[in-house]
Amino acid sequence: MFDMDCMLRLARRLGTLLLALAFTSAVQAADVPDMAALEKAFSEDIEPILARHCTDCHNADTPEHELDLSTFAAALKGGVSGPAILPGKAAQSMVHKFVQLGADPHMPPEGQLNKQELATLAKWIDSLPASLTPKGGKPITDKDRAHWAFQPIVRPEPPVGADADRRFRVGEAG
Ligand code: HEC
Repeated sequence: MFDMDCMLRLARRLGTLLLALAFTSAVQAADVPDMAALEKAFSEDIEPILARHCTDCHNADTPEHELDLSTFAAALKGGVSGPAILPGKAAQSMVHKFVQLGADPHMPPEGQLNKQELATLAKWIDSLPASLTPKGGKPITDKDRAHWAFQPIVRPEPPVGADADRRFRVGEAG
């Protein structure tokens, strides 16, 4: 038989569990990509492959077809034909399609990625969260990033001086 004390403890524990669950789903609903982890995966697994086969021609200085594959952010941006990497969709991504044996155009123009590299690249693109691009599949542009919601939070300078709080009085704004 349960005594009252035991029941209360159980109820409290259940409450904590529910709270934890609610919190977890709230975080998941926001679906914010973990950029630090994504950057790490890029530099550890993908950058070496791109450096070996691609960045001679696709770098910040000489981006063939405006495609720079030297950084994660640049690679996501894509080139003249649009995004070359579609997060979560390797099969539809140019970076994946063009490196396949017999592809046209074929990348790199001379040479061929080995099976291991092809598999790593495909797995990586498939692992990218779709939330990396806004709805509609358009990449986030510099203009989008200028939106206030993308700006870092800065601590406003508090006013100093004798009439520091004047501006906060109704009717005396500014
Ligand atoms: C020797 C230079 C060279 C190398 C190395 C190279 N590319 Fe390219 N890439 C080009 C040229 C030139 C074009 C544009 C003309 C064309 O489509 O053939 C291009 C175009 C592309 C495009 C289309 C971009 C767009 O928006 O139109 C993609 C995607 C691409 N390359 C991916 C890669 C990948 C991935 C690698 C490495 C596996 C790679 N390239 C290696 C020269 C290169």
